Parts: sequence; C-alpha cells; structure tokens
Amino acid sequence: MVSKRGTFASRFGVVAAVGGSVVGLGNIWRFPYVAGENGGAVFIIIYICISLLVSVPIMLSEFSIGRSTKRNSMRAFNKLAPGTKWKFVGYLGILTAFVILAFYCVIAGWALEFLREALFNNFAGKTAEQITENFNMFVSSGWKPAIWTTVFIIASVAVVYAGVEKGIERYNKIFMPLFVVLLVGLMLYTLSLDGAKEGASFLLKPDFSKLTGRTFLNALGQSFFSMSLGMGAMITYGSYIKKEENMFRVAGMVAATDVFVAVLSGLVIFPAVFSFGISPTSGPELVFITLPNVFAQMGAGYIVSVIFFMLLFLAAITSSVSLIEVVTVYIYEEMRLSRRRAACYVGLGTFIMGMLSIISQLPGSSIKIGGQNLVSFFDHLSSNIMLPIGGLFIVIFTGWVFAPAKFKAELTSNFKYGVKIYPIVYFLIKFVAPVVITLLFLNLIGVI
Ligand code: PHE
Repeated sequence: MVSKRGTFASRFGVVAAVGGSVVGLGNIWRFPYVAGENGGAVFIIIYICISLLVSVPIMLSEFSIGRSTKRNSMRAFNKLAPGTKWKFVGYLGILTAFVILAFYCVIAGWALEFLREALFNNFAGKTAEQITENFNMFVSSGWKPAIWTTVFIIASVAVVYAGVEKGIERYNKIFMPLFVVLLVGLMLYTLSLDGAKEGASFLLKPDFSKLTGRTFLNALGQSFFSMSLGMGAMITYGSYIKKEENMFRVAGMVAATDVFVAVLSGLVIFPAVFSFGISPTSGPELVFITLPNVFAQMGAGYIVSVIFFMLLFLAAITSSVSLIEVVTVYIYEEMRLSRRRAACYVGLGTFIMGMLSIISQLPGSSIKIGGQNLVSFFDHLSSNIMLPIGGLFIVIFTGWVFAPAKFKAELTSNFKYGVKIYPIVYFLIKFVAPVVITLLFLNLIGVI
C-alpha cells in the first residue's frame, strides 16, 4: 500500500523543506570540528570541490529516483529495477538513519543543555578552563545528557507523530535567514577578538603538507552528512517534488546554502578557538567549549546565546525529523502500521541507541569500539563508511541501471531545465562520483 503523497507547493517550499533537513548540527557542530582535525583550509578546499563534483550530482540522482517513482527509497529501487537486489540500498539507508540518530540526538541534547545554561546566564564570568570543566562534568554525569536527549527525541517524534513537518518547514523561511544573520554578526565579533587572525588564516591559508588520503575521505563524509546524502532522505524528499520543478535549481540553492552555513560557522568558531587558546583538534566538543567563551565576553552575550542555542535546536530538530521520517515512511508503507505507531517505534529505537551512546561516554565505561565511545564510533561509521557506500550505489544505479532516456527526461523535467549542463552532470554521475568514492575506499583499506 502506498498512500497518496503530496507535493511541495512552491519552489521556496521545496528549498525550505530540503534546507531544513540539510542545515543542522552537521554545519554548526560537525563541520568545525572535522575541519579542525583535518588542517583547516586544505580541508575546506577539498570539501568545496567534492560538494560540487560529487555531492550535487548525488543529490540530483536521489531527487530523480524519488520524483520518478514517488516511493520510499526501498520501493523506488524496486520499481525502477524490479526483482533485483537494488532494494538493499534502501535497507542500508534505513540502517544508516538509525546509526545517525543514535548520536545526533545526543549532540542535540547537548544543545538543549546549553540552551538551559544560556537562559540562566551561566556562561557569564567563567574562564575558558571553567567552561571546559563544566562541559566535562555535564557529559560524565550521564543523567543530564540522558534527560536532554530524551526531551529531544520526544520533540522530534512528536513532530512526525502529529504530521506537522510542513508547519515547521514554513518557519524555516524565517529561522534560516535569522540564523545566517546571527552567525554573520558572531563572525564579525569573533574576528575582532585578540589573536583572531591566527584563526582566520587557519581557515583560509592552506597548508598542503597536511594533506593525506584521509583528508579526502573525511571531506567526502562531511559533505554527504551535511547534505543528507547517501541514505535515501533526498529520495524521500524527491518524491514530494513537483514535476514542473527545476531540480538543478533546488539542488544548487540547497548545496550553496549548506556550504555557506558550514564555512560561516567555521569563521565564527576558529578565531575564537585561537583567541581562547583552545585546541582546534579538540574533537566533537569543540563548538561547545568554544562558543560559551564568546558569549561570556560579548556585550549582548546573554540574549545572543539564548537565541543561538534556540536556533541550533530548531536546526537540529528539522534534520532529525527528516531522519525519523525516512524510517517512519518505510515502516508504515511496508509493514502496514499506522504512521503514528511507526513514528513511536522509531522513537523507541532511537532512544535505546541514544542511551547506549550516552552510557559509553561515561568515564570508565567499557562500551567502546576500536577505543572510541559510541558517539564517535557512530559518527565516523555513518559519515565515512555508510553514507559513501550508499552514495556509491546510488550513483552507480543512476548512471548504469536507470534507463538513460528516462533519467534525462526526469532530471530535466521533460527537457525544460538544464538541458545544456545535463551531459556534464551525467558524466559526473556515471564516472567521476563512482571513481572518486571507490578510490577513497581503496585508500582507506590500504590498497592504494
Ligand atoms: N544534514 C543533517 C545535518 O547537517 C544531518 C542529516 C544527515 C540529516 C543525513 C538527514 C540525513 O545536521
């Protein structure tokens, strides 16, 4: 049973909805810490190239698969290539969504705790050491992150349960520009701090001696994660896009927004990182131990910090809703459960995974994989392995299995848009993207 699907009302509706999924913790939290660990400017250059040459073509592939079939991702593959194993790409996507949710809701929980701290004006008057210590105490308490993670999961599931995603997306039109304005303001402030220059040059002056094969894979993983690619989210969104819509334009706008917000977030964080003597390779806590220092010093720090964490929470919830949605749609279309029930099951699964992640972060916890706690493990596993594998299958499918004439008609909206650049995009999908991803995997396993 496939229920009737709606379509997005206007172009801005599509961009706002897809943008809601795409812009999230990936841009504000993950991008700065990964860029910090991978040498700053070099990483950013590679990240931008990969986003353009690999990620945008994958986004266009996902949109086309979704729009041409109007099915959840597993059924979409089944419809385009009946009786084949391709539907496993859909299953892989569902598994990936769970792995991402397992740590995403924990980090979003951190954002909620920081919103509470901001509301109580707790950053004021603290030194950089005290702020780091507070953060460590919070994470190692166990129960505090558990509460906030639970609150976040309930809030996300409630949105899907009540079916009000569209309602939230409407507000993206206001929230997203507001977030950008706030980030620009913060950037101007952090660039004026003592020692900020060092941070700016870390992000803008490439040091090619830092370049390794892993830098490329990390950039690819970051780009896929940030643009919600490789697990079927964009297939699901594609299935709601109208036939007359120009998908090149949607993908272009979404990708440009995503990269812009990420780099902007880096420009806010790094001047402060250097100014407060924090290590750029601090890892996942980087943003959380850096920004409170900025708010503690700023004139209007109280109000700015409250608005910032509020907007971060909203950005995170529109992304987690898209993750929950992919799995929920699958369960209710395939298992004949009601949508609401399906949403609750997904919430329960996420809760269990989230709690395991939190327990693994407790000091002395024995839940570690390869020496990493589950937050780091799931984070790396999803971005650097699962999403690229999913993305690889998606481009191979689009370039080599999807009937070329049908794909061209779909992507160009019946030869209306992008007919001239189509050959370039098709070349990127058929050859460049699969080759790049394969080479990076071969490098990862040590073959090249
Ligand atoms: N792109 C989202 C973010 O940046 C995370 C996400 C990944 C959402 C994959 C959906 C699918 O926060």
